[in-house]
Amino acid sequence: MRTHYCGQLRAEHIGETVTLCGWVDRRRDHGGVIFIDLRDRSGIVQIVSDPERTPASYSQAEALRNEYVVKISGRVSQRPEESLNPKLGTGEVEIYADQIEILNAVRKQLPFQVSAAETESVREELRLKYRYLDLRRERMSQNLQLRHQVIKTLRRYLEDSQGFMEVETPVLTRSTPEGARDYLVPSRVNPGEWFALPQSPQLFKQLLMVAGCDRYYQIAHCFRDEDLRADRQPEFTQLDMEMSFMTQDEILALNEAMIHHLIKVVKGIDVPVPFPRLTYAEAMERYGSDKPDTRFGLELVNVSDVVKTSGFKVFSDSVAKGGIVKILPIPNGNDLISNVRIKPGGDLFKEAETCGAKGLAYIRVRDDGAIDTIGAIKDNLTDEQKQEILTRTGAQPGHLLLFGAGAAEIVNKTLDRLRQVIAREQGLIDPDRIHLLWITDFPMFEWNADEKRLEALHHPFTAPFPEDLSDLKTARAQAYDLVYNGFEVGGGSLRIYQPDIQQQVFETIGLSPEEAHAKFGFLLEAFEYGAPPHGGIAYGVDRLVMLLAGEESIRDVIGFPKTQQARCLLTGAPSGVDNRQLKELHVASTFKPKS
Ligand code: AMO
Repeated sequence: MRTHYCGQLRAEHIGETVTLCGWVDRRRDHGGVIFIDLRDRSGIVQIVSDPERTPASYSQAEALRNEYVVKISGRVSQRPEESLNPKLGTGEVEIYADQIEILNAVRKQLPFQVSAAETESVREELRLKYRYLDLRRERMSQNLQLRHQVIKTLRRYLEDSQGFMEVETPVLTRSTPEGARDYLVPSRVNPGEWFALPQSPQLFKQLLMVAGCDRYYQIAHCFRDEDLRADRQPEFTQLDMEMSFMTQDEILALNEAMIHHLIKVVKGIDVPVPFPRLTYAEAMERYGSDKPDTRFGLELVNVSDVVKTSGFKVFSDSVAKGGIVKILPIPNGNDLISNVRIKPGGDLFKEAETCGAKGLAYIRVRDDGAIDTIGAIKDNLTDEQKQEILTRTGAQPGHLLLFGAGAAEIVNKTLDRLRQVIAREQGLIDPDRIHLLWITDFPMFEWNADEKRLEALHHPFTAPFPEDLSDLKTARAQAYDLVYNGFEVGGGSLRIYQPDIQQQVFETIGLSPEEAHAKFGFLLEAFEYGAPPHGGIAYGVDRLVMLLAGEESIRDVIGFPKTQQARCLLTGAPSGVDNRQLKELHVASTFKPKS
Protein backbone atom coordinates (compact mmCIF):
# COMPACT_ATOMS: atom_id res chain seq x y z
CA MET A 1 0.00 0.00 0.00
CA ARG A 2 2.79 2.45 0.79
CA THR A 3 6.35 3.22 -0.23
CA HIS A 4 7.69 4.95 2.89
CA TYR A 5 6.98 5.76 6.51
CA CYS A 6 6.11 9.42 7.16
CA GLY A 7 8.99 10.09 9.53
CA GLN A 8 11.62 8.72 7.12
CA LEU A 9 11.40 11.46 4.51
CA ARG A 10 14.40 13.76 4.18
CA ALA A 11 15.91 16.20 1.67
CA GLU A 12 17.44 13.24 -0.19
CA HIS A 13 13.91 12.15 -1.22
CA ILE A 14 13.13 15.47 -2.95
CA GLY A 15 11.73 14.81 -6.40
CA GLU A 16 10.51 11.28 -5.60
CA THR A 17 6.85 10.34 -5.74
CA VAL A 18 5.86 8.55 -2.53
CA THR A 19 2.77 6.90 -1.09
CA LEU A 20 2.17 7.22 2.63
CA CYS A 21 -0.47 5.85 5.00
CA GLY A 22 -1.37 7.17 8.41
CA TRP A 23 -3.53 9.38 10.58
CA VAL A 24 -4.34 13.07 10.19
CA ASP A 25 -2.55 14.61 13.15
CA ARG A 26 -3.80 18.12 12.28
CA ARG A 27 -5.36 19.83 9.30
CA ARG A 28 -4.88 23.55 8.81
CA ASP A 29 -6.65 25.62 6.18
CA HIS A 30 -4.55 28.65 5.27
CA GLY A 31 -6.93 30.50 3.00
CA GLY A 32 -7.20 27.97 0.22
CA VAL A 33 -3.98 26.05 0.92
CA ILE A 34 -4.56 23.03 3.13
CA PHE A 35 -1.73 21.65 5.26
CA ILE A 36 -2.06 18.20 6.74
CA ASP A 37 0.31 16.77 9.34
CA LEU A 38 0.29 13.08 8.51
CA ARG A 39 1.37 10.76 11.32
CA ASP A 40 2.42 7.14 11.59
CA ARG A 41 4.58 5.25 14.07
CA SER A 42 7.74 6.82 12.68
CA GLY A 43 6.72 10.47 12.99
CA ILE A 44 5.01 13.30 11.14
CA VAL A 45 5.36 14.80 7.65
CA GLN A 46 3.63 17.81 6.14
CA ILE A 47 1.26 17.30 3.21
CA VAL A 48 0.09 20.23 1.06
CA SER A 49 -2.95 20.50 -1.16
CA ASP A 50 -4.29 23.53 -3.03
CA PRO A 51 -6.71 24.01 -5.94
CA GLU A 52 -4.02 25.20 -8.36
CA ARG A 53 -1.13 22.81 -7.89
CA THR A 54 -3.00 19.69 -6.71
CA PRO A 55 -6.61 20.05 -7.93
CA ALA A 56 -7.20 16.28 -7.88
CA SER A 57 -6.69 15.97 -4.11
CA TYR A 58 -8.16 19.26 -2.96
CA SER A 59 -11.76 18.24 -2.28
CA GLN A 60 -10.57 15.20 -0.32
CA ALA A 61 -8.15 17.39 1.65
CA GLU A 62 -11.03 19.66 2.56
CA ALA A 63 -13.02 16.70 3.85
CA LEU A 64 -10.27 15.46 6.19
CA ARG A 65 -10.65 15.75 9.95
CA ASN A 66 -8.30 14.89 12.80
CA GLU A 67 -7.52 11.17 13.13
CA TYR A 68 -8.97 10.18 9.75
CA VAL A 69 -7.02 7.29 8.28
CA VAL A 70 -5.68 8.17 4.86
CA LYS A 71 -3.48 7.09 2.01
CA ILE A 72 -1.69 9.91 0.26
CA SER A 73 0.47 9.92 -2.89
CA GLY A 74 2.52 12.86 -3.99
CA ARG A 75 5.86 14.39 -4.78
CA VAL A 76 8.43 15.21 -2.11
CA SER A 77 9.40 18.89 -2.37
CA GLN A 78 11.76 21.27 -0.65
CA ARG A 79 9.91 23.46 1.89
CA PRO A 80 10.21 27.20 1.27
CA GLU A 81 12.84 28.90 3.45
CA GLU A 82 10.27 30.51 5.77
CA SER A 83 8.51 27.24 6.61
CA LEU A 84 11.53 25.04 7.40
CA ASN A 85 10.95 23.30 10.73
CA PRO A 86 14.20 22.26 12.41
CA LYS A 87 12.28 20.65 15.30
CA LEU A 88 10.85 18.00 12.99
CA GLY A 89 12.98 15.24 11.44
CA THR A 90 11.07 15.77 8.20
CA GLY A 91 11.13 19.56 8.62
CA GLU A 92 12.96 20.27 5.35
CA VAL A 93 10.37 18.69 3.09
CA GLU A 94 6.66 18.62 2.28
CA ILE A 95 4.59 16.47 -0.04
CA TYR A 96 2.30 17.87 -2.71
CA ALA A 97 -0.64 15.47 -2.62
CA ASP A 98 -1.63 14.18 -6.05
CA GLN A 99 -4.10 11.76 -4.51
CA ILE A 100 -5.77 11.47 -1.15
CA GLU A 101 -7.82 8.40 -0.32
CA ILE A 102 -9.81 8.28 2.91
CA LEU A 103 -9.39 4.74 4.25
CA ASN A 104 -11.50 5.36 7.31
CA ALA A 105 -13.23 8.24 9.00
CA VAL A 106 -13.69 9.10 12.68
CA ARG A 107 -17.36 8.61 13.45
CA LYS A 108 -17.57 9.80 17.03
CA GLN A 109 -16.24 12.83 18.80
CA LEU A 110 -12.69 12.12 19.94
CA PRO A 111 -12.48 11.85 23.76
CA PHE A 112 -9.29 13.95 23.60
CA GLN A 113 -6.99 15.43 21.01
CA VAL A 114 -4.22 13.08 19.97
CA SER A 115 -1.90 15.59 18.31
CA ALA A 116 1.27 16.46 20.19
CA ALA A 117 0.65 20.05 19.07
CA GLU A 118 -2.33 20.20 21.45
CA THR A 119 -1.24 21.25 24.89
CA GLU A 120 -4.33 20.20 26.86
CA SER A 121 -3.45 17.84 29.67
CA VAL A 122 -5.59 14.75 29.56
CA ARG A 123 -6.73 12.92 32.69
CA GLU A 124 -4.98 9.58 33.07
CA GLU A 125 -8.30 7.70 33.46
CA LEU A 126 -9.39 8.96 30.07
CA ARG A 127 -6.05 8.05 28.52
CA LEU A 128 -6.28 4.54 29.95
CA LYS A 129 -9.88 4.05 28.83
CA TYR A 130 -8.98 5.02 25.27
CA ARG A 131 -5.46 3.62 25.44
CA TYR A 132 -5.37 2.91 21.68
CA LEU A 133 -5.71 6.66 21.07
CA ASP A 134 -3.26 7.50 23.84
CA LEU A 135 -0.70 5.15 22.28
CA ARG A 136 -0.99 7.01 18.97
CA ARG A 137 0.48 10.05 20.70
CA GLU A 138 4.11 10.71 19.97
CA ARG A 139 5.37 10.43 23.55
CA MET A 140 3.64 7.13 24.22
CA SER A 141 4.50 5.71 20.85
CA GLN A 142 8.16 6.54 21.51
CA ASN A 143 7.98 4.93 24.95
CA LEU A 144 6.67 1.70 23.45
CA GLN A 145 9.34 1.77 20.78
CA LEU A 146 12.02 2.36 23.42
CA ARG A 147 10.66 -0.57 25.42
CA HIS A 148 10.90 -2.75 22.35
CA GLN A 149 14.45 -1.58 21.70
CA VAL A 150 15.48 -2.26 25.31
CA ILE A 151 14.12 -5.81 25.23
CA LYS A 152 15.59 -6.49 21.79
CA THR A 153 19.02 -5.20 22.89
CA LEU A 154 18.99 -7.29 26.06
CA ARG A 155 17.95 -10.42 24.18
CA ARG A 156 20.61 -9.98 21.49
CA TYR A 157 23.30 -9.29 24.05
CA LEU A 158 22.50 -12.23 26.27
CA GLU A 159 22.00 -14.70 23.43
CA ASP A 160 24.68 -13.60 20.98
CA SER A 161 27.44 -12.36 23.28
CA GLN A 162 26.93 -14.35 26.47
CA GLY A 163 25.47 -17.71 25.50
CA PHE A 164 22.19 -17.43 27.39
CA MET A 165 19.14 -19.34 26.24
CA GLU A 166 15.55 -18.39 26.82
CA VAL A 167 13.35 -20.97 28.47
CA GLU A 168 9.68 -20.32 29.16
CA THR A 169 8.48 -21.31 32.59
CA PRO A 170 4.85 -22.00 33.49
CA VAL A 171 2.31 -19.31 34.25
CA LEU A 172 -0.01 -21.77 35.96
CA THR A 173 2.09 -22.96 38.85
CA ARG A 174 2.44 -23.33 42.61
CA SER A 175 2.94 -20.12 44.50
CA THR A 176 6.55 -18.95 44.93
CA PRO A 177 7.11 -17.00 48.12
CA GLU A 178 8.35 -13.53 47.11
CA GLY A 179 6.52 -11.79 49.89
CA ALA A 180 3.44 -10.51 48.07
CA ARG A 181 -0.01 -12.09 47.82
CA ASP A 182 -0.62 -14.52 44.98
CA TYR A 183 -3.13 -14.29 42.19
CA LEU A 184 -4.94 -17.61 42.28
CA VAL A 185 -6.60 -19.58 39.50
CA PRO A 186 -9.06 -22.37 40.37
CA SER A 187 -8.60 -25.73 38.69
CA ARG A 188 -11.78 -27.02 37.03
CA VAL A 189 -10.53 -30.57 36.67
CA ASN A 190 -9.05 -30.72 40.17
CA PRO A 191 -11.91 -29.54 42.35
CA GLY A 192 -10.87 -27.43 45.33
CA GLU A 193 -7.32 -26.96 44.08
CA TRP A 194 -5.66 -23.80 42.81
CA PHE A 195 -2.83 -22.64 40.67
CA ALA A 196 -0.95 -19.48 41.51
CA LEU A 197 0.33 -17.07 38.88
CA PRO A 198 4.09 -16.71 39.33
CA GLN A 199 5.45 -13.83 41.41
CA SER A 200 8.67 -14.67 39.60
CA PRO A 201 10.13 -17.77 37.93
CA GLN A 202 12.52 -18.20 40.87
CA LEU A 203 12.18 -21.90 41.57
CA PHE A 204 11.95 -22.96 37.94
CA LYS A 205 15.13 -21.11 37.03
CA GLN A 206 16.94 -22.83 39.87
CA LEU A 207 15.60 -26.17 38.67
CA LEU A 208 16.89 -25.29 35.19
CA MET A 209 20.36 -24.96 36.71
CA VAL A 210 20.01 -28.41 38.26
CA ALA A 211 18.97 -29.50 34.77
CA GLY A 212 22.29 -28.30 33.35
CA CYS A 213 20.90 -25.34 31.40
CA ASP A 214 23.91 -23.29 32.62
CA ARG A 215 22.77 -19.84 31.43
CA TYR A 216 19.05 -19.12 31.38
CA TYR A 217 17.14 -15.94 30.74
CA GLN A 218 13.52 -15.08 30.15
CA ILE A 219 11.43 -11.99 29.54
CA ALA A 220 8.97 -13.13 32.17
CA HIS A 221 5.56 -11.90 33.20
CA CYS A 222 5.20 -11.76 36.97
CA PHE A 223 2.09 -11.25 39.05
CA ARG A 224 1.92 -9.82 42.56
CA ASP A 225 -1.21 -8.84 44.39
CA GLU A 226 0.31 -5.97 46.39
CA ASP A 227 -0.38 -2.31 47.09
CA LEU A 228 0.36 -0.32 43.97
CA ARG A 229 2.55 2.74 43.50
CA ALA A 230 3.95 4.67 40.56
CA ASP A 231 6.69 2.07 40.18
CA ARG A 232 4.61 -1.04 40.90
CA GLN A 233 2.06 -2.91 38.82
CA PRO A 234 0.18 -6.11 39.70
CA GLU A 235 1.40 -7.58 36.42
CA PHE A 236 4.89 -6.60 35.36
CA THR A 237 7.81 -7.83 33.29
CA GLN A 238 11.16 -9.09 34.51
CA LEU A 239 14.34 -9.78 32.67
CA ASP A 240 15.03 -12.93 34.64
CA MET A 241 18.50 -14.54 34.60
CA GLU A 242 20.23 -17.49 36.25
CA MET A 243 23.78 -18.77 35.85
CA SER A 244 25.76 -21.79 37.04
CA PHE A 245 29.40 -21.96 38.13
CA MET A 246 29.92 -18.23 38.53
CA THR A 247 31.15 -16.25 41.52
CA GLN A 248 29.26 -13.18 42.69
CA ASP A 249 31.95 -10.94 41.19
CA GLU A 250 31.63 -12.71 37.84
CA ILE A 251 27.84 -12.32 37.89
CA LEU A 252 28.08 -8.62 38.72
CA ALA A 253 30.70 -8.05 36.01
CA LEU A 254 28.53 -9.75 33.38
CA ASN A 255 25.56 -7.64 34.44
CA GLU A 256 27.58 -4.44 34.39
CA ALA A 257 28.70 -5.20 30.85
CA MET A 258 25.09 -5.88 29.83
CA ILE A 259 23.71 -2.67 31.38
CA HIS A 260 26.62 -0.65 29.98
CA HIS A 261 25.86 -2.04 26.51
CA LEU A 262 22.13 -1.35 26.89
CA ILE A 263 22.58 2.29 27.90
CA LYS A 264 25.16 2.80 25.15
CA VAL A 265 22.75 1.44 22.53
CA VAL A 266 19.55 3.17 23.63
CA LYS A 267 20.92 6.43 25.06
CA GLY A 268 24.38 6.74 23.49
CA ILE A 269 25.85 7.17 26.98
CA ASP A 270 28.94 5.35 28.29
CA VAL A 271 28.18 4.67 31.94
CA PRO A 272 31.42 3.98 33.84
CA VAL A 273 32.06 0.36 34.79
CA PRO A 274 32.47 -1.24 37.24
CA PHE A 275 29.54 0.33 39.07
CA PRO A 276 30.28 1.52 42.59
CA ARG A 277 29.31 -0.89 45.37
CA LEU A 278 27.97 -0.10 48.79
CA THR A 279 27.18 -2.62 51.45
CA TYR A 280 23.65 -2.53 52.81
CA ALA A 281 25.02 -1.37 56.18
CA GLU A 282 26.97 1.47 54.58
CA ALA A 283 24.01 2.57 52.42
CA MET A 284 21.73 2.68 55.45
CA GLU A 285 24.33 4.59 57.45
CA ARG A 286 25.11 7.20 54.78
CA TYR A 287 21.73 7.56 53.09
CA GLY A 288 19.16 5.92 55.37
CA SER A 289 18.05 3.85 52.38
CA ASP A 290 19.00 0.65 50.56
CA LYS A 291 18.23 2.36 47.27
CA PRO A 292 19.89 5.74 47.58
CA ASP A 293 19.85 8.33 44.84
CA THR A 294 23.56 9.10 44.61
CA ARG A 295 23.25 11.85 42.00
CA PHE A 296 23.55 14.33 44.86
CA GLY A 297 25.29 14.51 48.25
CA LEU A 298 23.39 15.50 51.41
CA GLU A 299 24.77 12.44 53.19
CA LEU A 300 23.59 11.63 56.69
CA VAL A 301 25.91 11.77 59.69
CA ASN A 302 25.53 9.48 62.69
CA VAL A 303 26.12 11.27 66.01
CA SER A 304 24.63 8.67 68.35
CA ASP A 305 27.95 8.26 70.17
CA VAL A 306 28.35 12.04 70.61
CA VAL A 307 24.92 12.71 72.09
CA LYS A 308 24.28 9.53 74.03
CA THR A 309 25.54 11.16 77.22
CA SER A 310 23.93 14.54 76.56
CA GLY A 311 21.37 16.05 78.87
CA PHE A 312 18.89 16.27 76.01
CA LYS A 313 16.56 13.40 76.86
CA VAL A 314 15.21 12.89 73.35
CA PHE A 315 18.75 12.06 72.18
CA SER A 316 20.12 10.17 75.17
CA ASP A 317 16.95 8.11 75.65
CA SER A 318 16.84 7.19 71.97
CA VAL A 319 20.36 5.79 72.12
CA ALA A 320 19.74 4.10 75.49
CA LYS A 321 16.76 2.28 73.98
CA GLY A 322 18.87 0.91 71.12
CA GLY A 323 17.94 3.66 68.69
CA ILE A 324 20.08 6.20 66.87
CA VAL A 325 20.58 9.95 66.38
CA LYS A 326 21.49 11.12 62.89
CA ILE A 327 21.82 14.45 61.14
CA LEU A 328 20.91 15.60 57.65
CA PRO A 329 23.27 18.56 57.04
CA ILE A 330 21.91 21.08 54.53
CA PRO A 331 24.33 23.66 53.12
CA ASN A 332 22.55 27.03 52.70
CA GLY A 333 19.69 25.50 54.68
CA ASN A 334 19.33 28.70 56.71
CA ASP A 335 18.34 30.70 53.67
CA LEU A 336 16.15 28.05 52.15
CA ILE A 337 14.34 26.48 55.07
CA SER A 338 12.50 28.62 57.61
CA ASN A 339 11.63 27.52 61.15
CA VAL A 340 7.95 27.48 60.16
CA ARG A 341 8.62 24.59 57.78
CA ILE A 342 10.28 22.36 60.39
CA LYS A 343 7.97 23.09 63.30
CA PRO A 344 4.64 21.31 63.90
CA GLY A 345 2.28 22.06 61.02
CA GLY A 346 5.13 22.90 58.61
CA ASP A 347 5.50 20.98 55.34
CA LEU A 348 8.85 19.34 56.23
CA PHE A 349 7.55 18.48 59.68
CA LYS A 350 4.58 16.76 58.05
CA GLU A 351 6.89 14.80 55.73
CA ALA A 352 8.77 13.63 58.83
CA GLU A 353 5.52 12.77 60.60
CA THR A 354 4.35 10.51 57.77
CA CYS A 355 7.56 8.51 58.31
CA GLY A 356 6.77 8.06 61.99
CA ALA A 357 9.00 10.84 63.41
CA LYS A 358 7.67 12.85 66.33
CA GLY A 359 9.70 16.00 65.78
CA LEU A 360 12.58 17.63 63.97
CA ALA A 361 15.29 19.07 66.18
CA TYR A 362 17.73 21.40 64.44
CA ILE A 363 20.87 23.46 64.70
CA ARG A 364 21.52 26.49 62.52
CA VAL A 365 25.03 27.80 62.00
CA ARG A 366 24.70 31.58 61.65
CA ASP A 367 26.84 33.69 59.33
CA ASP A 368 29.17 34.63 62.17
CA GLY A 369 29.60 30.96 63.08
CA ALA A 370 27.33 31.17 66.13
CA ILE A 371 24.97 28.27 66.77
CA ASP A 372 21.25 28.78 66.93
CA THR A 373 18.89 26.05 68.13
CA ILE A 374 15.73 25.45 70.03
CA GLY A 375 16.20 25.82 73.78
CA ALA A 376 16.46 22.21 74.84
CA ILE A 377 19.39 21.35 72.57
CA LYS A 378 21.16 24.63 73.28
CA ASP A 379 21.09 24.11 77.01
CA ASN A 380 21.79 20.40 77.09
CA LEU A 381 24.69 19.85 74.74
CA THR A 382 28.17 20.64 76.00
CA ASP A 383 30.47 22.86 73.97
CA GLU A 384 32.58 19.81 73.11
CA GLN A 385 29.50 17.95 71.90
CA LYS A 386 28.42 20.92 69.77
CA GLN A 387 31.92 21.26 68.36
CA GLU A 388 32.12 17.55 67.53
CA ILE A 389 28.76 17.77 65.73
CA LEU A 390 30.00 20.72 63.65
CA THR A 391 33.25 18.96 62.81
CA ARG A 392 31.62 15.68 61.89
CA THR A 393 28.99 17.27 59.66
CA GLY A 394 31.47 19.71 58.14
CA ALA A 395 28.99 22.47 59.00
CA GLN A 396 29.83 25.95 57.75
CA PRO A 397 28.04 29.26 58.25
CA GLY A 398 24.63 28.95 56.57
CA HIS A 399 24.26 25.22 57.34
CA LEU A 400 21.05 23.82 58.75
CA LEU A 401 21.43 20.51 60.61
CA LEU A 402 18.22 18.50 60.89
CA PHE A 403 18.19 15.77 63.54
CA GLY A 404 16.39 12.46 63.56
CA ALA A 405 16.31 10.58 66.88
CA GLY A 406 14.61 7.31 67.78
CA ALA A 407 14.33 3.80 66.33
CA ALA A 408 16.81 3.34 63.46
CA GLU A 409 14.07 2.39 61.03
CA ILE A 410 12.11 5.61 61.61
CA VAL A 411 15.15 7.89 61.70
CA ASN A 412 16.47 6.46 58.43
CA LYS A 413 13.10 6.60 56.72
CA THR A 414 12.55 10.21 57.81
CA LEU A 415 15.95 11.57 56.86
CA ASP A 416 15.92 9.64 53.55
CA ARG A 417 12.59 11.26 52.72
CA LEU A 418 13.73 14.76 53.72
CA ARG A 419 16.99 14.29 51.81
CA GLN A 420 15.04 13.61 48.63
CA VAL A 421 12.48 16.37 49.12
CA ILE A 422 15.18 18.95 49.77
CA ALA A 423 17.38 17.82 46.87
CA ARG A 424 14.42 18.13 44.51
CA GLU A 425 13.41 21.50 45.84
CA GLN A 426 16.97 22.86 45.69
CA GLY A 427 17.48 21.59 42.16
CA LEU A 428 20.40 19.37 43.20
CA ILE A 429 19.32 16.53 40.90
CA ASP A 430 20.56 16.59 37.33
CA PRO A 431 17.85 14.71 35.38
CA ASP A 432 20.31 13.79 32.63
CA ARG A 433 22.70 11.95 34.92
CA ILE A 434 22.59 8.20 35.31
CA HIS A 435 23.95 6.87 38.59
CA LEU A 436 24.11 3.12 38.97
CA LEU A 437 25.33 1.30 42.01
CA TRP A 438 25.23 -2.13 43.59
CA ILE A 439 24.00 -2.61 47.11
CA THR A 440 25.52 -5.81 48.52
CA ASP A 441 25.70 -7.82 51.75
CA PHE A 442 22.03 -7.53 52.72
CA PRO A 443 21.00 -9.12 55.98
CA MET A 444 19.51 -12.58 55.40
CA PHE A 445 16.44 -11.85 57.52
CA GLU A 446 14.32 -9.03 58.86
CA TRP A 447 11.88 -9.03 61.72
CA ASN A 448 8.22 -9.21 60.78
CA ALA A 449 6.60 -7.46 63.76
CA ASP A 450 3.05 -8.46 62.71
CA GLU A 451 3.80 -12.17 62.48
CA LYS A 452 6.48 -12.04 65.21
CA ARG A 453 9.00 -14.01 63.18
CA LEU A 454 12.04 -13.54 61.02
CA GLU A 455 11.43 -13.46 57.30
CA ALA A 456 13.80 -13.60 54.36
CA LEU A 457 14.73 -10.12 53.14
CA HIS A 458 15.07 -11.30 49.52
CA HIS A 459 13.72 -14.83 49.42
CA PRO A 460 14.57 -17.99 51.35
CA PHE A 461 16.74 -19.43 48.54
CA THR A 462 19.43 -16.76 49.00
CA ALA A 463 22.79 -18.08 50.18
CA PRO A 464 24.26 -16.76 53.43
CA PHE A 465 27.94 -15.81 53.63
CA PRO A 466 29.77 -19.04 54.53
CA GLU A 467 31.56 -17.27 57.39
CA ASP A 468 28.21 -16.22 58.90
CA LEU A 469 26.73 -19.72 59.03
CA SER A 470 27.35 -20.13 62.76
CA ASP A 471 24.60 -17.60 63.54
CA LEU A 472 22.12 -17.60 60.71
CA LYS A 473 19.78 -15.11 62.37
CA THR A 474 22.29 -12.30 61.98
CA ALA A 475 23.95 -13.64 58.83
CA ARG A 476 24.59 -11.51 55.76
CA ALA A 477 23.27 -12.72 52.43
CA GLN A 478 25.23 -13.04 49.21
CA ALA A 479 22.62 -10.81 47.63
CA TYR A 480 22.82 -7.70 45.48
CA ASP A 481 20.45 -5.05 44.18
CA LEU A 482 21.10 -2.70 41.29
CA VAL A 483 20.02 0.87 42.06
CA TYR A 484 19.48 3.40 39.27
CA ASN A 485 18.96 7.03 40.35
CA GLY A 486 17.29 5.92 43.57
CA PHE A 487 15.16 3.12 42.10
CA GLU A 488 15.73 -0.58 42.68
CA VAL A 489 15.83 -1.84 39.10
CA GLY A 490 17.16 -5.32 39.79
CA GLY A 491 17.89 -7.75 42.54
CA GLY A 492 19.42 -11.18 42.88
CA SER A 493 21.72 -13.45 44.81
CA LEU A 494 23.84 -16.54 44.94
CA ARG A 495 21.55 -19.41 45.86
CA ILE A 496 21.70 -22.14 48.40
CA TYR A 497 22.44 -25.43 46.65
CA GLN A 498 23.02 -27.67 49.66
CA PRO A 499 19.84 -29.24 51.12
CA ASP A 500 21.06 -28.96 54.73
CA ILE A 501 21.62 -25.20 54.54
CA GLN A 502 18.29 -24.75 52.78
CA GLN A 503 16.66 -26.67 55.62
CA GLN A 504 18.33 -24.42 58.24
CA VAL A 505 17.07 -21.31 56.48
CA PHE A 506 13.54 -22.66 56.40
CA GLU A 507 13.81 -23.37 60.13
CA THR A 508 15.02 -19.82 60.80
CA ILE A 509 11.94 -18.35 59.14
CA GLY A 510 9.74 -20.67 61.17
CA LEU A 511 8.99 -23.35 58.56
CA SER A 512 9.02 -26.83 60.08
CA PRO A 513 10.64 -29.63 58.03
CA GLU A 514 7.12 -30.92 57.28
CA GLU A 515 5.88 -27.52 56.06
CA ALA A 516 9.05 -26.99 54.05
CA HIS A 517 8.63 -30.40 52.51
CA ALA A 518 4.99 -29.77 51.67
CA LYS A 519 5.79 -26.43 50.00
CA PHE A 520 9.20 -26.96 48.43
CA GLY A 521 9.75 -30.72 48.56
CA PHE A 522 10.37 -30.73 44.82
CA LEU A 523 13.22 -28.19 45.16
CA LEU A 524 14.80 -29.89 48.16
CA GLU A 525 14.64 -33.20 46.34
CA ALA A 526 16.22 -31.70 43.22
CA PHE A 527 19.12 -30.51 45.35
CA GLU A 528 19.77 -34.16 46.29
CA TYR A 529 20.65 -35.03 42.70
CA GLY A 530 23.70 -32.86 42.07
CA ALA A 531 22.78 -29.17 42.03
CA PRO A 532 25.55 -26.89 40.71
CA PRO A 533 26.50 -23.69 42.53
CA HIS A 534 24.35 -21.04 40.90
CA GLY A 535 23.03 -17.51 41.19
CA GLY A 536 21.06 -14.96 39.29
CA ILE A 537 19.20 -11.71 39.14
CA ALA A 538 15.94 -10.25 37.88
CA TYR A 539 15.42 -6.75 36.53
CA GLY A 540 12.16 -4.85 36.52
CA VAL A 541 11.94 -4.14 32.79
CA ASP A 542 9.15 -1.60 33.30
CA ARG A 543 11.20 0.35 35.83
CA LEU A 544 14.29 0.23 33.65
CA VAL A 545 12.38 1.56 30.62
CA MET A 546 10.65 4.20 32.76
CA LEU A 547 14.03 5.56 33.85
CA LEU A 548 15.54 5.39 30.37
CA ALA A 549 12.47 7.18 28.99
CA GLY A 550 12.62 9.86 31.71
CA GLU A 551 9.07 9.01 32.79
CA GLU A 552 7.82 9.12 36.38
CA SER A 553 5.37 6.24 36.23
CA ILE A 554 5.77 2.71 34.90
CA ARG A 555 2.23 3.01 33.55
CA ASP A 556 3.65 5.27 30.85
CA VAL A 557 5.91 2.54 29.49
CA ILE A 558 3.43 -0.35 29.57
CA GLY A 559 1.05 -0.85 26.66
CA PHE A 560 -2.03 -1.64 28.71
CA PRO A 561 -1.37 -0.98 32.40
CA LYS A 562 -3.67 -1.25 35.39
CA THR A 563 -4.71 1.66 37.59
CA GLN A 564 -3.66 2.08 41.23
CA GLN A 565 -6.84 0.12 42.04
CA ALA A 566 -5.57 -2.76 39.87
CA ARG A 567 -8.22 -2.23 37.20
CA CYS A 568 -7.98 -2.15 33.42
CA LEU A 569 -10.16 0.78 32.39
CA LEU A 570 -10.11 -0.26 28.74
CA THR A 571 -11.52 -3.77 29.06
CA GLY A 572 -13.23 -3.28 32.41
CA ALA A 573 -11.26 -6.09 34.06
CA PRO A 574 -11.67 -7.45 36.64
CA SER A 575 -15.35 -8.16 36.17
CA GLY A 576 -18.06 -10.42 37.51
CA VAL A 577 -18.58 -13.81 35.84
CA ASP A 578 -21.57 -16.09 35.32
CA ASN A 579 -22.56 -18.28 38.23
CA ARG A 580 -22.36 -21.16 35.78
CA GLN A 581 -18.64 -20.48 35.28
CA LEU A 582 -18.06 -20.34 39.03
CA LYS A 583 -19.95 -23.57 39.55
CA GLU A 584 -17.84 -25.36 36.97
CA LEU A 585 -14.79 -24.16 38.84
CA HIS A 586 -16.21 -25.32 42.18
CA VAL A 587 -15.99 -21.75 43.50
CA ALA A 588 -18.55 -19.65 45.38
CA SER A 589 -18.07 -16.00 46.22
CA THR A 590 -18.34 -14.89 49.84
CA PHE A 591 -18.49 -11.24 48.79
CA LYS A 592 -21.66 -9.41 49.83
CA PRO A 593 -22.16 -6.09 48.01
CA LYS A 594 -23.13 -3.26 50.38
CA SER A 595 -26.83 -2.57 50.00
P1 AMO B 1 12.51 -9.03 43.21
O1 AMO B 1 11.29 -9.35 43.96
O2 AMO B 1 13.51 -8.09 43.83
O3 AMO B 1 13.37 -10.32 42.90
O4 AMO B 1 12.11 -8.47 41.79
C1 AMO B 1 13.09 -8.12 40.83
C2 AMO B 1 12.79 -6.73 40.24
O5 AMO B 1 11.48 -6.70 39.71
C3 AMO B 1 10.94 -5.38 39.84
N1 AMO B 1 9.64 -5.46 40.51
C4 AMO B 1 8.52 -4.84 40.09
N2 AMO B 1 8.30 -4.03 39.04
C5 AMO B 1 7.05 -3.57 38.85
N3 AMO B 1 5.99 -3.88 39.63
C6 AMO B 1 6.16 -4.69 40.71
N4 AMO B 1 5.10 -5.00 41.47
C7 AMO B 1 7.47 -5.20 40.97
N5 AMO B 1 7.99 -6.02 41.92
C8 AMO B 1 9.30 -6.16 41.62
C9 AMO B 1 11.95 -4.57 40.62
C10 AMO B 1 12.80 -5.62 41.27
O6 AMO B 1 14.12 -5.17 41.50
N6 AMO B 1 13.18 -13.85 41.95
C11 AMO B 1 13.85 -12.64 42.42
C12 AMO B 1 15.06 -12.30 41.60
C13 AMO B 1 16.26 -13.18 41.86
O7 AMO B 1 16.59 -13.41 43.03
O8 AMO B 1 16.90 -13.58 40.87
C14 AMO B 1 12.86 -11.48 42.36
O9 AMO B 1 11.80 -11.56 41.79
O10 AMO B 1 12.72 -3.78 39.72
